[in-house]
Amino acid sequence: MLNGKQIVLIISGGIAAYKSLDLIRRLKERGARVIPVMTAGAQEFITPLAVGALSAEKVFTSLFDREAEHDVGHIRLARDHDLVLIAPATANLMAKTAHGIADDLATAVLLATDKPVLVAPAMNPKMWHNAATTRNITILQERGIRFVGPARGEMAEKGEAGVGRMSDPLEIVAAASAVLRDEEIRQNRLPLAGKHVLITSGPTHEPIDPVRYIANRSSGKQGHALAVAAYEAGARVTLVSGPVDLADPDNIDTIRVESAADMLSAVKSCLPADIAIMAAAVADWRVAAEGAQKIKKDGSGKPPALGLVENPDILATVGHHESLRPKLLIGFAAETQNLIDNARSKLERKNADWIIANDVSPETGIMGGDANTVRLVSRDGVEDWPEMNKAEVARQIVARAAAALDE
Ligand SMILES: Cc1cc2nc3c(=O)[nH]c(=O)nc-3n(C[C@H](O)[C@H](O)[C@H](O)COP(=O)(O)O)c2cc1C
Repeated sequence: MLNGKQIVLIISGGIAAYKSLDLIRRLKERGARVIPVMTAGAQEFITPLAVGALSAEKVFTSLFDREAEHDVGHIRLARDHDLVLIAPATANLMAKTAHGIADDLATAVLLATDKPVLVAPAMNPKMWHNAATTRNITILQERGIRFVGPARGEMAEKGEAGVGRMSDPLEIVAAASAVLRDEEIRQNRLPLAGKHVLITSGPTHEPIDPVRYIANRSSGKQGHALAVAAYEAGARVTLVSGPVDLADPDNIDTIRVESAADMLSAVKSCLPADIAIMAAAVADWRVAAEGAQKIKKDGSGKPPALGLVENPDILATVGHHESLRPKLLIGFAAETQNLIDNARSKLERKNADWIIANDVSPETGIMGGDANTVRLVSRDGVEDWPEMNKAEVARQIVARAAAALDE
């Protein structure tokens, strides 16, 4: 959501200004351009040199800057961008903004902008709870200005704690993504706006006893990338994830499960969905009788016999659902041989619309890796896609799914 976006970051004079340096890095890592504006107060806490070095941009500090103002700099700053983010936002800056005061560059930009504004307040709890601040926040919210935080915690002042800490940079990044996405939805630019997309991801763990389980090498990278791509295309996304090392994606409703049986009940509880993409590598079998206690060696030298039974088939259950089959149902086939034959047979048996087939033989490096080479198998034929990173594969699948839903 942040890739290619231009964000004016207003830094005001609070002790949390040092965190805005990390925030700049986080926004830039995600492909955003960050144009910094610093109040005079902010420059008491961190230097324009540090802000300029991290953002790799000119740092705007003065309303009366002859060089910037020859092309009406403050108006351009207010208009030519996708988002105005204030982090940290002081009580003073919020008060001035609420009342239309424009006596420095930051407040002039805020008065002139027609872009979404996101505020990350940071102040002492007494300042936060002051009736003046409460009133100012209401005024700003009524004007459509969005807030992230503040959080509860220890203050810089010794012995003080309460609500007032600036949210962590990663939370601010997630909130900025949500604001930018809402704006794109408002402008009708996202194809899956108003749609619900259900995605499964990762492996399942099938318990043998309280400490052991059967698993597979799925990392969840492709499934999680699909969830992000569907979110960025405007959908409400539910991600049902097996045990993975990945963080839950920002702004996405994520249900974590362990076994295939858990995944099936989570999936059923999330229907109806317009599109379901079943990317999880669900274990085909589970142990018939899970040991209630850790299974011990019995001294005979013989391993225990682990009888297996077949797990429920999640894709087939959804595909054959009488009333709640999604309009578009996409399965994944991870195979090490007879890729296309297996994918075609899966398509039919499970009543899916498409199967995304990939060869997961160890030499391909696909299982757990960052790249994927897939084929899209449908009743119309087989498409070979070139190797791409998993995020790009996800974007392409989501774009195709959105187009198919429209047909
Ligand atoms: C050490 C110190 C820390 C401060 N921390 C904060 C703060 O966290 N939040 C806040 O709203 N004001 C804080 N202030 C007060 C602001 O700096 C002051 O209101 C200033 O006028 C804000 O200017 P600005 O909003 O234009 O940046 C602090 C002041 C000092 C001296």
